Amino acid sequence: MDRFNGIPAIGLGTYPLSGAEAERCVAAALEVGIRHVDTAQMYGNEKAVGRGIALSGVPRGEVFLVTKVDPSNLGAARFAASVARSADDLGSVPDLLLIHWPPSDGDIDGPVERLLREGERGMAKHLGVSNFSPRQMRRAQQLAAGRLICNQVEFHPLLDQSKVLAAARELGMALTAYSPLARGKCMEDRVVQDIAARHRRPPSEIVLRWIIQQGVAAIPMTRKRDNAASNLRAAEFSLTADEMDAISALSSRNLRLINPAWMTNGWD
Ligand SMILES: NC(=O)c1ccc[n+]([C@@H]2O[C@H](COP(=O)([O-])OP(=O)(O)OC[C@H]3O[C@@H](n4cnc5c(N)ncnc54)[C@H](OP(=O)(O)O)[C@@H]3O)[C@@H](O)[C@H]2O)c1
Repeated sequence: MDRFNGIPAIGLGTYPLSGAEAERCVAAALEVGIRHVDTAQMYGNEKAVGRGIALSGVPRGEVFLVTKVDPSNLGAARFAASVARSADDLGSVPDLLLIHWPPSDGDIDGPVERLLREGERGMAKHLGVSNFSPRQMRRAQQLAAGRLICNQVEFHPLLDQSKVLAAARELGMALTAYSPLARGKCMEDRVVQDIAARHRRPPSEIVLRWIIQQGVAAIPMTRKRDNAASNLRAAEFSLTADEMDAISALSSRNLRLINPAWMTNGWD
């Protein structure tokens, strides 16, 4: 499996899974070969995700585990304690610790400095951000002297994220695609379906292939073992340049699924 800045190209998203279902889905995904699991303090499922990894029998060292600091924990009084609680709940230190959302006041310096301190204390193997705009990525990577490996953002064919991808390449950061299937909407598209028929593969594999062929990791959420196995098969074939272009053209629809009220400063 390809890795981008050390991040396995295909992972498992775990929102909104919880409890026994989260445990079962994480274990099933690992059993079929997925080695990258995405969680967050916000999802309330870190304990279940940790139990799912243990249940799978896959050695912890083979799994790339990602969690994210909640917006409510970005201040000096709560940041470190929340990261310690995540490590306890997960049963281990994460491979990648992200700031989940830029703070609502837009002033990222304090949270990024606190993130860097957690890295220095050994509370995460790698550091990164999520939902940062190109301008915020530049500032964060400057503060981190190039140590941030990733920005996790909404990324799928129905949304134009070319600016954020160009910024990531310029800054030496990988992107991880969340909602990579646009929660199913991408698979309904005629262009995607026609390409899928040509390759004799499901539309979901075409969409994931379009993402990882650009060097972007993807973390589809699935409750189904067979779909987790299918998602991994996106690594087994290639799309032609014309197919890539035809799928990229769908971004003119500009469908942004996740746009919370606190993003008052916009996405630039
Ligand atoms: N950083 C952030 O702010 C942020 C925000 C949103 C999400 N995320 C992360 O990104 C992850 C994924 O995003 P998402 O859950 O919003 O959307 P998504 O992964 O685009 O879509 C999930 C849907 O796709 C279906 N699916 C998955 N694999 C499939 C396959 N091979 N064939 C057919 N259907 C398939 C699933 O149904 P089945 O269960 O039936 O397979 C599920 O209904 C989340 O779980 C979370 O970890 C991060």
